[in-house]
Amino acid sequence: MSENLEELSDEYKIIVRDLMKVYKRGQKEVIALRGIDFEVNAGEFLSIIGPSGSGKSTLLKMLGALDKPTAGAIIYDGHSVTTLDDRRSMLYRRQKVGFVWQIGNLVPGLNALKNVILPMKLAGAPSRQSNERALMLLEKLGLSSRIDNPELLLGDEITGELDSETTEIVMEALKNTNKEFGTTVINVTHNPKVAEYADRVLRIRDGLIEGQKHILYGDITEIDAKGRMVIPETVRRLAGLGKRVVLRATSDGLLISPLDTSGKNDNNNNDTATN
Ligand SMILES: Nc1ncnc2c1ncn2[C@@H]1O[C@H](COP(=O)(O)OP(=O)(O)O)[C@@H](O)[C@H]1O
Ligand SMILES: [Mg+2]
Repeated sequence: MSENLEELSDEYKIIVRDLMKVYKRGQKEVIALRGIDFEVNAGEFLSIIGPSGSGKSTLLKMLGALDKPTAGAIIYDGHSVTTLDDRRSMLYRRQKVGFVWQIGNLVPGLNALKNVILPMKLAGAPSRQSNERALMLLEKLGLSSRIDNPELLLGDEITGELDSETTEIVMEALKNTNKEFGTTVINVTHNPKVAEYADRVLRIRDGLIEGQKHILYGDITEIDAKGRMVIPETVRRLAGLGKRVVLRATSDGLLISPLDTSGKNDNNNNDTATN
């Protein structure tokens, strides 16, 4: 890694690098994050969208110092979050981070919000007034920023159980909080409509951000007595491996590359992996 994270952290509020998380479930290992890289600006509203099981909640837990990654780094205001001890993790959570999980789970049958806002709307109340009311309510739910605390709001499928109208109200209020208080927001969702409220949207799939250099911290696998090993299908697909591969022993370990049968020219940087 030749990148200077210290220098970069002058520029960004949050830097996530090569973040990997492996869960052990009995004998099986589940790779939830396979090397995630991104940066977040101070005051930015970022959406991370991806299907169920893609690693969204895992990523948020790491960002909120609720759990430790298997490898990789999270730098917040120039400080490493991933290496904090338990006490400092707790302080970080308490002083910097606000968590918002599914509102429907927090407040059973949350129609309070809608019940307050909707009649106001129908009565033609100026939207400013209903927005303020919404903010107040959201503050009660712990969603809204209290002036300068928290600096970072982490949302996990906040609106997952709300109807579209209430979703709109909640997301508008979240956006207001972001704009008015400069709260940095990272909101994960599987809903494209919800993702749209952000300044920027990242897509996550199979524990990787789409369109990113796919550094793969490969699945952990065993080599049997005959030297055979299993390379999981997802890893083969992401690495573009076909039926035959080239093995190269390097100073970092074993490099397994697709066997390029399309041409003899090694310098040919042709990406068509159609072997
Ligand atoms: N505590 C855990 N133990 C084992 N596997 C887990 C655990 N938490 C999540 N996983 C697995 O990690 C993957 C990503 O899960 P998660 O981050 O919850 O995805 P998402 O929030 O996008 O639905 C899934 O395959 C899930 O089954
Ligand atoms: Mg989740």
